[in-house]
Amino acid sequence: MASQRHKKRIFSGVQPTGNIHLGNYLGAVKNFVKLQALGNEALFCIVDLHAITVWQDPKALYSSIRELAATFIACGLDSNKSILFSQSQVSGHAELAWVFNCVVRIGWLNRMTQFKDKAGKNKENASVGLFAYPALMAADILAYHATHVPVGEDQKQHLELTRDIAIKFNNDYQVPNFFPNPEPIIEETAPRIMSLRDGSKKMSKSDPSDMSRINLQDDDDLIALKIQKAKTDQEPIPEDVPSLAKRPEANNLVNIYASLASCLPEDVLNEFNGKPFSFFKPKLAEIIISELGPITKEINELMEQPDEIDKVLNDGAIHAREISDPIIKSTYEILGLTNNCK
Ligand code: AMP
Ligand code: TRP
Repeated sequence: MASQRHKKRIFSGVQPTGNIHLGNYLGAVKNFVKLQALGNEALFCIVDLHAITVWQDPKALYSSIRELAATFIACGLDSNKSILFSQSQVSGHAELAWVFNCVVRIGWLNRMTQFKDKAGKNKENASVGLFAYPALMAADILAYHATHVPVGEDQKQHLELTRDIAIKFNNDYQVPNFFPNPEPIIEETAPRIMSLRDGSKKMSKSDPSDMSRINLQDDDDLIALKIQKAKTDQEPIPEDVPSLAKRPEANNLVNIYASLASCLPEDVLNEFNGKPFSFFKPKLAEIIISELGPITKEINELMEQPDEIDKVLNDGAIHAREISDPIIKSTYEILGLTNNCK
């Protein structure tokens, strides 16, 4: 097969589990909206097959899928400009994941830090799906020959594995450049938003403490309370960024502010240096509420129209299949699973 050039195509995925939070928003979804505004061809996927790598209540899962679709739309993703869909509705993801399970090496998967974090001490009892999760993620991206993947910094290692899988497949089957080498796009001011309770841990859906994160569904009072209670130190806001290096909680709050105000952390320090956190926190709460308030309102309105959401997802799946079906077909031909002797 001749070497191919790949046109720019964006792909990213978010799991429909638990509450989508400020880390997801600033690290990922806000970036999706910016990339869409630049006129890129883009697919944004609700990765429900990833979600079931840990048990999900079937009664709640579909509602979480709809809620994430509503969140995408409320944040500014537009189904007329981007393809919005859920992973389980496009069979190419699972088909290509199986192929990649046969390409990826156990040793490569053993190095994945997310598996170690999620499986914890009880590795023997984790699902095989949780272990093979990164091969499915590679399939998500490569089933569309996507070239750019906007994600938070925590997904960098999975992206590197995706590249390794693409390279190994292309080499093993001597199809130079059949799968592209996708590149991560990581938001500069919000690569990793940290927990409000512990500046050394990332803000996460699975943190048992709800006070550790701002959920997109939190109301104004709750946001103000969570910021007021956010852990900080005794020092005032410093003059320069290097002085934040050993103050993870302070650094996190400054970064959140900078990201929402679309400015640099040094601009925030110029404005607030010398001021105590008791002065800064209400300003931070205000800027969070003014950005998230309208989004929450729209999510709630959209959730009143479930048929509309389902239509967006169904149409999105049709478009997604139009792109991935021929790629899966070529992959099967390359593997010798179907007759390619024309
Ligand atoms: P997940 O909720 O794990 O499906 O993550 C969805 C997207 O949000 C991925 O691109 C993650 O990298 C990103 N993300 C999750 N948590 C954070 C965080 N604390 N800071 C920045 N980005 C995040
Ligand atoms: N693994 C990602 C996370 O936990 C979600 C994801 C699944 C994803 N497939 C993807 C992200 C493909 C980008 C591209 O956040």
